[in-house]
Amino acid sequence: MTDTLHLTPNDVPHAAALLRAGNLVAFATETVYGLGADARNGVAVASIYATKGRPSFNPLIAHVANVAMAQELVQWNDWADALAQAFWPGPLTLVLPLREGHGVSELVTAGLTTLAVRVPAQDTARALLTAVGGPVAAPSANPSGKISPTTADHVTAGLGGKIAAILDDGPCAVGLESTIVGLAGPTPMLLRPGGLAQDKIEQVLGQTLAARDTADPLTAPGQLLSHYAPNAAVRLNATSPVNDEVMLGFGAMSYDLKAGDLNLSPRGDLGEAAANLFGYLHRLDMLGAPIAVAPIPQQGLGVAINDRLHRAAAPR
Ligand code: TXA
Ligand code: MG
Repeated sequence: MTDTLHLTPNDVPHAAALLRAGNLVAFATETVYGLGADARNGVAVASIYATKGRPSFNPLIAHVANVAMAQELVQWNDWADALAQAFWPGPLTLVLPLREGHGVSELVTAGLTTLAVRVPAQDTARALLTAVGGPVAAPSANPSGKISPTTADHVTAGLGGKIAAILDDGPCAVGLESTIVGLAGPTPMLLRPGGLAQDKIEQVLGQTLAARDTADPLTAPGQLLSHYAPNAAVRLNATSPVNDEVMLGFGAMSYDLKAGDLNLSPRGDLGEAAANLFGYLHRLDMLGAPIAVAPIPQQGLGVAINDRLHRAAAPR
């Protein structure tokens, strides 16, 4: 592969043509940049795994432009209806049983009988999906195990030269991957905390979400513990840095930030912190020093932020 094309929202038809021809195109969503391939083209999907260096047992999310496109792929139900009405387009992925004649490559589902589907909130992304006219499989557009990308520059740094194009639509507003809810079993289950807080989902469903059965790899295949890893070591729940650490703060802090340190949200706003999380980890990681991270409240979007931070800090 030679140069990666830098495309803008005006180039949606070009990006769609590249996808339909079996190429990889990274595109902005409101959560993180996705690395897209035509979900019906097994060779194209295989190149996602190869390009990311992703373990082959980890299934992918099929991105679609609207509910009607999702319903062609999966067996819809009342829970899906309620959640899609409330939160699509948006940072929510639903896992449902595959429908006969779905046409999606087995490499997308990694052989499961369910499919993860999502309608992204980014207008440009939906325009792209409409122009493709079918599902686009897309994991986050980073080398496997590295920090997720929230700008086109992050994608270039990780995958430049290895993919056909990047559809640049600015920084991602949410900054955390979608919340994944399993709707293929007897009761709705939270498979991954993410950019939509659990309590909002529970309000719409009128019931609590079951916790993922961590002993069962099928309920969240491929959620590797060491993931989202910066090159540097990460230390959590720190009130101040020690030795040569740089500080990633949150809210009002007793420690005064020094040059190089960053605060995810000086005013203690979890939404702002989520939007900044991966970008700030990228920036601190470039300094090459170990990273000390302030405690983040375990509520609302803080649950997903802490999930990503624990993975970033996991031994590898
Ligand atoms: O916000 C997002 O969700 C981003 C953007 C690009 O849309 N995508 C993303 O994809 O985070 P990825 O591949 O990094 O994460 C997909 C997750 C995996 O952890 C996988 O285990 C889960 O979705 N998944 C996919 N299909 C599944 C299925 N059939 N059953 C259970 N989990 C599934
Ligand atoms: Mg990812």
